[in-house]
Amino acid sequence: MRILMVCLGNICRSPMADGWLRHKVKQYNLSMEVDSAGTANYHVGEKPDHRMRRLSLEYGVSIDELRARQFTVADFDKYDIIFAMDKSNEKNILHLARNEQDKEKVRLFLNELYPNQDMEVPDPYYGNDLNFKEVIELLDQATNAFLKNNRLIQN
Ligand code: 4NP
Repeated sequence: MRILMVCLGNICRSPMADGWLRHKVKQYNLSMEVDSAGTANYHVGEKPDHRMRRLSLEYGVSIDELRARQFTVADFDKYDIIFAMDKSNEKNILHLARNEQDKEKVRLFLNELYPNQDMEVPDPYYGNDLNFKEVIELLDQATNAFLKNNRLIQN
C-alpha cells in the first residue's frame, strides 16, 4: 500500500502524519510506502517546522529528514490513498483530480479515527507548543486507527 499525507504547507501536519506512519511501519515491520506533500508551494524544500521537529522527538519520532514538496497530479498515479488533513486541502486536491479514479483515492485522515464525522486536523502553525502537541497526539491516534481499520495491527 502507498500512502500520501497532505496538508497546506507540508511543514506541520502532514510531515508529522508521515513521520508517525513511517515510525509504525518500521515498528510493526509493515510493507507500506509513505510520503507527504502540501497543496501550497510556500515552503518547498524546507525542513518541517522547528516546533514540530523538536516536539516530535519527545514522542520518539524524528521528522528531520523530511523536506517539503508540493502535491502534483502525478501523485494520483503514485499513491493508493491520499489523506487530506482538512477539508480545504481535500477540496484543493479534488480540484486537481482528472477522473473518478483519482477522486476515490482522496480521504479526510480523521475519518479513520472518527468515521463519517469529517473532522479536521487543526492547523497549529499560528499556535503554541500545546497546540502542536495536541496535533501530534491526534495524528498518533488517527494513524493507529488507520492501521487497525486495515487489520495491519491489533486492537
Ligand atoms: P501545515 O501548516 O499546512 O500543517 O504545514 C501550515 C504551514 C504554513 C502555513 C500554513 C499552514 N503558511 O501559511 O505558511
